[in-house]
Order: sequence, then structure tokens, then C-alpha cells
Amino acid sequence: MAFRRFRAATIAVTAAVAMSSMLVTPSAIAETRRSASEAGAPGVGDPYFLYQGNGGFDVRHYDIAFSYDPATRRMNATTTVTAVATQNLDRFDLDFRGPDISMLTVNGTTAGFQRDGQELIITPGSNLPSGRVFTVVVKYAGVPPVITDPDGSIEGWVPTDDGAFVVGEPQGAPAWFPGNDHPTNKATFTFHATVPEGTTAVGNGRLLSQTTASGWTTFVWDSTEPMATYLATVTIGKFKITESTTPSGIPIYTAVDPRLVKRSAAAVAQIPDIIDYYRQTFGPYPFSSTGAIIDYAPNVGYALETQTRPVFCDVPSNAVGTMAHELAHQWFGDSVSVRHWSDIWLNEGFATYSEWLWSEHTGGMTAQKLFEQAYAGDKRSFWQITIADPGVVDMFSDPVYDRGAMTLHALRGKVGDAAFFRILRQWVQAYRYGNATTTDFIKLSEKESGMDLTSFFDVWLYQKGKPTTW
Ligand code: TRP
Ligand code: ZN
Repeated sequence: MAFRRFRAATIAVTAAVAMSSMLVTPSAIAETRRSASEAGAPGVGDPYFLYQGNGGFDVRHYDIAFSYDPATRRMNATTTVTAVATQNLDRFDLDFRGPDISMLTVNGTTAGFQRDGQELIITPGSNLPSGRVFTVVVKYAGVPPVITDPDGSIEGWVPTDDGAFVVGEPQGAPAWFPGNDHPTNKATFTFHATVPEGTTAVGNGRLLSQTTASGWTTFVWDSTEPMATYLATVTIGKFKITESTTPSGIPIYTAVDPRLVKRSAAAVAQIPDIIDYYRQTFGPYPFSSTGAIIDYAPNVGYALETQTRPVFCDVPSNAVGTMAHELAHQWFGDSVSVRHWSDIWLNEGFATYSEWLWSEHTGGMTAQKLFEQAYAGDKRSFWQITIADPGVVDMFSDPVYDRGAMTLHALRGKVGDAAFFRILRQWVQAYRYGNATTTDFIKLSEKESGMDLTSFFDVWLYQKGKPTTW
């Protein structure tokens, strides 16, 4: 568990610096655009990341085709974004922090564009009426960036000694493709990644083809279930590939850095059983493939629940627990995603509680024991975070994970096992492939239990301080 939160320990030091960069005031360009009549908004209004996502359209599909040479760290890419206008648009933004753009078209016609921070501001040759499907093609080349977050952690396109470790939570996706970078706009994805022969590019979903010509191999990956941009990856390196299936027939594709095969073997071997246990506990696995990417990018310090196939930057000391955590996110976080980043405990608290359930299921510490340990063990500062809205710097801090998990265990005690597991199953069913809020969870819990849980959730989620009665 310490692994994915290795980063959190370093957060306090960088927090003060980070706070100043949070106080972004809208730039002059954004102000001008806001007043223009039919311009799409430069953000979706998520207070944690003001410019994340965009207004005026909904992306349906990304086709991301690129070559990448680990030796030069350069990428050469063409991304096609297919979207539907949700208002009349004479101008709209995509989020993009990648290298230089050489060409941009909308519906096949060259379009005007300018860049302002993470905003790629596009002026199509003719207006897009509300309801119109349109395609944006963006060609770009250069070195994609590493992105530093308000908490000091790194993400985006992180070069490794044999390729690149590619992660996007909460704001790294625009490092390598232009898009609508907010979890509320899910889309399907196709990736065509060309890398030097002998190197593997591992994306989300199913591997459609792998073809080699003149020393380069192109991997085509297809992700047919809706996916948030932050969960996309095409991680590149030298990998040992293993393909198999779970007991229920879900294809497994696992890529492991040869240096880490031994140390990760126990965790990788449990993937089918973990998936199977969660299927029985939470309901059907939401995607059509699974697996893992065990890479070596030690400067990253956390794993990510990239859709269908979580990615690890190393083998953590608690490798099995971390695998159970990342696979649980496929239900909690990937299929059911947050509506606002302030709801992040719905991801991390639920994945941590799933880790507790897996521990108990496999004869390790019981959920009750893990609850007692977390409740007793943590320092005073641990209890000073409001986990229903931890703030951007503390999104991935320990309380979001552990107090989040404790909240679920306390809820289970309050409503009883039958209602509790009904709540979890209803949650993943009702919001499958969608977005939900803490308020949605409270409403569902009250409905399934028939209880008034206002003060229960108030104590656990909205108040600071260690809960004593609930
Ligand atoms: N969501 C990841 C997990 O819990 C952790 C994570 C993603 C993270 N991005 C981060 C942790 C940035 C710290 C900083 O598995
Ligand atoms: Zn997590």
C-alpha cells in the first residue's frame, strides 16, 4: 500500500509551491473567448483543474497513430478526434500539451489554431451547427512532455531506459494526444503505435494486429468500451508478453519488464482469481480484456488503473495488494468514474476497500482487522482532511485511500452485509460506463438500506477529525 502513496509522503514539501500555481487566473485570450458568441468554453468547470475538458462538444472516438523512437525520445503522430457538437461552434478548444503541430484540419479543411497553455484553440473554416458530427485531424512531432502535478508527482509521457511509461491521472493525457481531457467525456479509442523492432507498445483493450516492416513494428490496439482520457496508455519498452484467459473467458495480455518477471510473478499469477472474485462480489467485469503492464519507471512512484490493463512503475513491496487495488479500479474509477475530481475517494476509497476484501478472502488480515488498524494507527494530521473534497494537492493522500476504505467498512457495519453488497452491485450497475458523485452514492445507500444516513456520511466524509460515533 505504501507503494502507490510513496508520492504522498513527498507532497507536503511541495505543497506551498504547488498552491501558487493553482491560483491560475484566466488568461486574456480565454477572457476574450468567453464573451464570443459561439465559442466552446475552455474548461468544463472542474474547480480542481480549471482548464480541463472543454465545452461545446462531446468526443466519441480517438484514433491515435504515432511512431516513437526511444533513442531520440521523439514521436511523430496523427490524432483524429471524432466528436459531436453540443452547441453551435465557431471556435472550440482541445486540451493539448504535446509537441509542435504541423497541420490541423476540421472536416478535412485546414483550420486556424493557436495554443495558450494547455488549450489548443481551433477555428474551423465554417461554423459547426449543434448536433453535427465532426472530425479534427492533428499532426504533431517532437518530444512529448513529462507533466508535474500540483502535488509534485509526475505523469504524462515519462521516458524510461527502454521506452516510455505513459499515464494520465489526473491531467497527463494531453502530453501525447489532443482531446477533451475530463473524466465526464468518455470515448472509444484505437491506437496504432510504431516502435523499433524488438520493442513492444502496450495499449488498452485488444491487440488487433502486430506487423513488422523494415525494422519497425506497428501494434494496433482497440478499446471498444467507453474510456476516460486519463486511463489511456500506450506504454513502450522491452517486455515479456504472456497471453491467457480468466476462468470466465476474458482474454489476459500481460507485459512484464524482463528484469521484474520474478518479483512480479506472484501478483501477475493472481489476476484471473482477483477478477473472478470481484465479478462475484461487484457484478460482471466491465471490459472485454484484462492484464497488466509491469514496467520500470522508478521516478514515477505509483501504479495506475489504466483501463483493462493497469500499469506499474516497478514491483511494489505489497505487489498482490496493489494488483488487487488496480484491478478493483476497473469497476470503481474506470467503469464508474468521478463527475468531479473532488469525488476522488469514490475511486481510491473503493479500490482500497476492495484490497481489504481480497486480503480477507485469501486468508490474510480481515477487513475488520484492517479497519481497526487504520482507525487506531494514524497520526493526527491524517484526520485533518475532508475526504469528500480533499483539495487538488491532497487528491492522492493517505486519508483519501484509507479513510475512504474505513467509510465503506463503517457503512457495512451500519447497514449490514446484505444491504452493503447490494449497494456496491447497484452502484456499478447503475453508473456503468458513466460518472457519479458522492451525493449519488449517499442517495443509493439510503435507498438500498432504507435508512437515513445523513449524519453517518457527514461524520465520515464531510467533517474533519476522527469519527467517534456514527
Ligand atoms: N490512482 C492511482 C492508484 O491509486 C494513483 C495515482 C494516480 C497517483 N496518479 C497519481 C498517486 C498522482 C499520486 C500522484 O492506483
Ligand atoms: Zn487507486
